[in-house]
Amino acid sequence: MKKETLKIKDFNKEPGLLKDKPDRIKRTNAIACALFKEVPVDSSMKVVDFGCGTGLLSIAVSSKAKSVTGMDTSEKMIEVFNEKIKKDNLKNVKTCHICGFDAEYVPDIDCGLVMSAMTMHHIPFEDIKKYVKKFFDMLIPGGYIAVADLDEEKGNFHSDNDGVFHLGFVRKDFKKIISDCGFENVKDVTATRVFKADKNTGQGNEFSVFLITAKKPAA
Ligand SMILES: C[S@@+](CC[C@H](N)C(=O)[O-])C[C@H]1O[C@@H](n2cnc3c(N)ncnc32)[C@H](O)[C@@H]1O
Repeated sequence: MKKETLKIKDFNKEPGLLKDKPDRIKRTNAIACALFKEVPVDSSMKVVDFGCGTGLLSIAVSSKAKSVTGMDTSEKMIEVFNEKIKKDNLKNVKTCHICGFDAEYVPDIDCGLVMSAMTMHHIPFEDIKKYVKKFFDMLIPGGYIAVADLDEEKGNFHSDNDGVFHLGFVRKDFKKIISDCGFENVKDVTATRVFKADKNTGQGNEFSVFLITAKKPAA
């Protein structure tokens, strides 16, 4: 796929993604289970969910964390998430609409975990390292990063690959970016597998979703 043909996806124009379909709920629950096995989330931990979407993972993790801040560039996603916060009176969950991180700005948050699910494949090539470095700077010493995303795929996962900058990732390449940014104890597990019908043939395809976790060195 040629880099110059790619453009950033406008998630405000993706009404299908605003609905929590059963397969997305199942996938997120599996990611949360894998995350709880790898990261000791507890009631003292502040968590940031980067690319939180409608808040499925944020809400799952909020049951164990001190607080969760969901960050997303899509106002529509944030709107749906805010409705859930209000409806369920989720006192330790909040949202933050962002326009993308600029190189200088680090949110004043000092969190113990930055997590991100199914978002990094929408981040342009040259920005991935910049974002991982930003996550490093947001974390307290000893804090964790947890990234869930697709293993390499052939381009069949999305019905439209506009704004898909990576057809999944090679785990060892993503792990190298994470360790190059200063993290230690970089590990990967398979969080879940997702079945989808091929958009052209109608035949079933299986996709695997990894969870990579790592730790910022203690001071
Ligand atoms: C496929 S959705 C995943 C949502 C959610 N994490 C989940 O697993 O259901 C990707 C999300 O990333 C957000 N996103 C894309 N690029 C972003 C960026 N540069 N900064 C923050 N959020 C971004 C989109 O608006 C969208 O809500």
